[in-house]
Amino acid sequence: MENTINWSELSFGYMKTDYNVRCYYRNGKWGELEVSSSEIINIHMSATCLHYGQEAFEGLKAFRGKDGKIRIFRLDENAKRMQSSAQGIKMAEFPIEKFEEAVLKAVKLNERFVPPYGSGASLYIRPLLIGLGALIGVKPADEYMFLVFVTPVGPYFKTGFKPAPVCIMRDYDRAAPHGTGTYKVGGNYAASLAAGQKAQEKGYAAVLYLDPKEKKYLDECGPANFFAIRDNTYITPASTSILPSITNKSLIQLAGDSGLKVERRPVPVEELSTFEEAAECGTAAVITPISRIDDLDEGKSYIYTKDGKPGVTCEKLYNELLAIQTGDAPDPYGWTTVL
Ligand code: PLP
Ligand code: COI
Repeated sequence: MENTINWSELSFGYMKTDYNVRCYYRNGKWGELEVSSSEIINIHMSATCLHYGQEAFEGLKAFRGKDGKIRIFRLDENAKRMQSSAQGIKMAEFPIEKFEEAVLKAVKLNERFVPPYGSGASLYIRPLLIGLGALIGVKPADEYMFLVFVTPVGPYFKTGFKPAPVCIMRDYDRAAPHGTGTYKVGGNYAASLAAGQKAQEKGYAAVLYLDPKEKKYLDECGPANFFAIRDNTYITPASTSILPSITNKSLIQLAGDSGLKVERRPVPVEELSTFEEAAECGTAAVITPISRIDDLDEGKSYIYTKDGKPGVTCEKLYNELLAIQTGDAPDPYGWTTVL
């Protein structure tokens, strides 16, 4: 079957693979990992995940190296973030070691779907945690299911590493000031769908959200964090309503170690006019350079590309990150887990 997959033509979509790994929380404890070949889950119609949004997920990737080995990027960080999301919406936390074991098992069992080195594709890993149990009152479930499936993917944005435009629209927020923006929970993505679709209809790859309280500072994009480059400095928003991106955390380290200054702080909208480069970053987005930001309310445009090419710093960071992920470069930080 894998012989028929055109790896370099893959987009960011779902493809059936062989197995997924599941685990249930009942009577106050997690059970054993179970392997399933079914794509279907059977849950109670009154489960809290269906009614009250008790759902959190993760996204990480596995890469095949030139040496044929499979490397999973920052497994532990994703495990920790899923625990933080579980705390945020009062779900049972899935233990770190079990998370790691489940992900390794899912990748191993679907090894034939890990795209070849150099194809530009990778294996996307999607862990999911949902509230089960028959409840009708608004309260946390007492039963949960953890599941991890994998699917081979290409670039999230169809432009790939080519710069794409994004827009600012003040009528929409993806998260509330003291809400769930820092957790990777389904509700934040539901909240972003209307603005995302509107932006796409206007030809934008994504929405750049402002802080929901004052609309004075940059927050993040629908599916990715935001960073900019100016005067040899990597600038990225600090905010209480954005997801702590593991890609951004990695880029902050790489930027600092390659001699850039790093500023993680509230970034006023007015600074948009001062940046040399701007980009989105995330597991799915990797680094997607931003060609232009259109502030649709103020009627202003900010341009960050010359001849439609990515900026030099974005390109350097992209290459450094990918080299560590695929094993082309040494991994001094211990970010990769070799299968
Ligand atoms: N912000 C949001 C809202 C996201 O959905 C994602 C994707 O995971 C990111 C940022 C990037 O996070 P990470 O780099 O951990 O994938
Ligand atoms: C990711 O980058 O892993 C994401 O979750 C982004 C998007 C697919 C929701």
